[in-house]
Amino acid sequence: MFDDLRNRFDFFIRSKTKFSRKNYKGETENPESDYVYDILSQFLKPKERDFLRVLDIGSKNWAYVGGEYRFFRQFSPNLELDGVEIDAYRLYSNLYSRYETAKFYTKGLEGVNYYPDDLLNISGEYDYIVWLLPFVTPYPLERWGLPKKYFMPEKLLAHAYKLLKNDMLIVNQGEEEAEIQKALFEKLEIPYKSLGIISSEALEFKNTRYGYIVKRG
Ligand SMILES: C[S@@+](CC[C@H](N)C(=O)[O-])C[C@H]1O[C@@H](n2cnc3c(N)ncnc32)[C@H](O)[C@@H]1O
Repeated sequence: MFDDLRNRFDFFIRSKTKFSRKNYKGETENPESDYVYDILSQFLKPKERDFLRVLDIGSKNWAYVGGEYRFFRQFSPNLELDGVEIDAYRLYSNLYSRYETAKFYTKGLEGVNYYPDDLLNISGEYDYIVWLLPFVTPYPLERWGLPKKYFMPEKLLAHAYKLLKNDMLIVNQGEEEAEIQKALFEKLEIPYKSLGIISSEALEFKNTRYGYIVKRG
C-alpha cells in the first residue's frame, strides 16, 4: 500500500513538472536497435505499400527506435512510426527523462513521433503494432514506479487490438508472463499464434523471451 502511495505521488509530480536536463547525447549505434530489427525481420513480413502506419507501445526511452525505423522503412517511402509511453517523464540517474532521451534517439527519423501518453488515448488504425514486454502481472509495474491503477492488461490489449489493421508482435519475458499473455488472448477471444521462445544473436537477455503474433488482416 505504501509503495503505491509513493508511486502515485512520484508519478504525479514527474508528470506535472516534466523536469529533465536537456539535450541528451548517447550512442547512436546500440544493440537494442539491432535486436529489435532482427526479431521484426524474423516474424513480420509486411507487403510494400505507399503508406505504412506503425505503433510501438510502452516505448520507454525508445532507444530501439532505430531498429524499428530501419525495418519498416524498407516497405514504404512514407512511414509513420508512433511510440506511446505513459511514464515519459521518469528520470534516469543522470537526470535526463525518458522523453528527453527519446528525443535523441528519434532525431532525424522522418515520420517518427513519441507520445508521452496513455495507450488508451491513442486512436486511429495501425498497420503494425510492436509491443515489447507489456505488464501482465502487477509486481513489475509497481517496481517500475507506476501507480497500481495503471495495471490493466486486459483493457490495454483490447484497445491495442481495436487499433490493429494487420499484425501485432508481442514479446513477453519468462514463461509465466507468456502463459498469462496467452490467457488474456483467450479471454478476449483474440486470435493469436504462439512463436515460442524468441532469440537473437544481436542481444541476449537473462530472462527467456516468448513471442506472439496477432493477425487481423
Ligand atoms: C517493461 S517496460 C518495456 C519498455 C520497452 N518496450 C522495452 O522493451 O524496453 C513497459 C513500458 O510500458 C509502459 N506502459 C505501461 N502502461 C502503459 C500505458 N497504458 N500506455 C503507454 N505505456 C504504458 C511503461 O511505462 C513501461 O515503460
